[in-house]
Amino acid sequence: MKIAVLTGGGDCPGLNPAIRGIVFGAAGYGDEIIGLQLGWKGLVDGLITPLSVPLCDDVIRQGGTMLGSSRTNPFMKEDDLAKALNNFTSLGLDALIALGGEDTLGVANQFTKLGLKMVGVPKTMDNDLAETDYTFGFDSAVSVALDAADRLVDTARSHRRVLVLEVMGRHAGWVALYTGIASGADWILTPEEPFEIEEMCAHLQKTRERGKLYNLIVASEGIDLPEADTHGMSVDAFGHIVLRERGVGEYVAKVVEERTGFETRYSQIGHIQRGGAPTVFDRVLATRLGLKAIDLVHEGNFGTMASIKGNEIVAVPLESAVSELKTVPHELYVEATRLFK
Ligand code: F6P
Repeated sequence: MKIAVLTGGGDCPGLNPAIRGIVFGAAGYGDEIIGLQLGWKGLVDGLITPLSVPLCDDVIRQGGTMLGSSRTNPFMKEDDLAKALNNFTSLGLDALIALGGEDTLGVANQFTKLGLKMVGVPKTMDNDLAETDYTFGFDSAVSVALDAADRLVDTARSHRRVLVLEVMGRHAGWVALYTGIASGADWILTPEEPFEIEEMCAHLQKTRERGKLYNLIVASEGIDLPEADTHGMSVDAFGHIVLRERGVGEYVAKVVEERTGFETRYSQIGHIQRGGAPTVFDRVLATRLGLKAIDLVHEGNFGTMASIKGNEIVAVPLESAVSELKTVPHELYVEATRLFK
């Protein structure tokens, strides 16, 4: 079979191990695998690149994506859609495996409805894709954020300050929650929960009264801000606001300093969370999902996504994976608040 592979949306560690899993798995079937560069742009513009076992030998340890990525949405312009459909046929593709989050896999789902043979692989550092317990990229991103948090605690303690760490995660607070729990943060702010400023500041005061010398707050970039004004902010091809421009960390630090009188600093680690070598968890997960994706193609199980449930790699419908986001359940957040002491 001739099968194309692409990586779309924000990159994250694990994409290269997943590509390697697909290519190595496909070698066992005797398939021809081609790469499409820069996400769906590669299908629209016919940007192809070879993929082979020798080319993927070393990539398991590399962050980023060897295919490049973009947030191109081929359904935005009729002309782009026509070019993508035409290229699928003229390249002689039997199937396409898309590695991505809700946007990229949403496009794969739309193509499935048009009759193209698509299989999805879930990736995103946000961990917010439904129908899978984890997406690769999340564990690596959280490990980076945790390292940052531990460093911030050192300097916060020295100066008796409050440090606010702003982490990525868009609509879901998984990165903030895991980083916050693992770093022993005094407060965690997620997009799913209301931003209780008074309660948070009162809690910080209480920790100082019991002798704590510093505080750490982990805040997700996607929280609701009381004075939010998204007017004039940049928007990507899928209509998402560029959240880092809202300056959540800066805002939270200002409010905390004003209300508590504690000297406060903030850090926005941004894309640092998306780089670097994948963790063990992400390497293994991505590899297993890649192998499953190629199996799904050979089973003719199109319109599906490889997914991890428990420790099993299974197939789920693309449609249900992209129909709603997997946000942090309220009970999980409440569990974390038991540690705010
Ligand atoms: O969806 C992954 C993500 O890293 C989000 O957490 C973040 O809001 C966004 O991508 C940043 O996108 P970009 O790299 O396009 O600025």
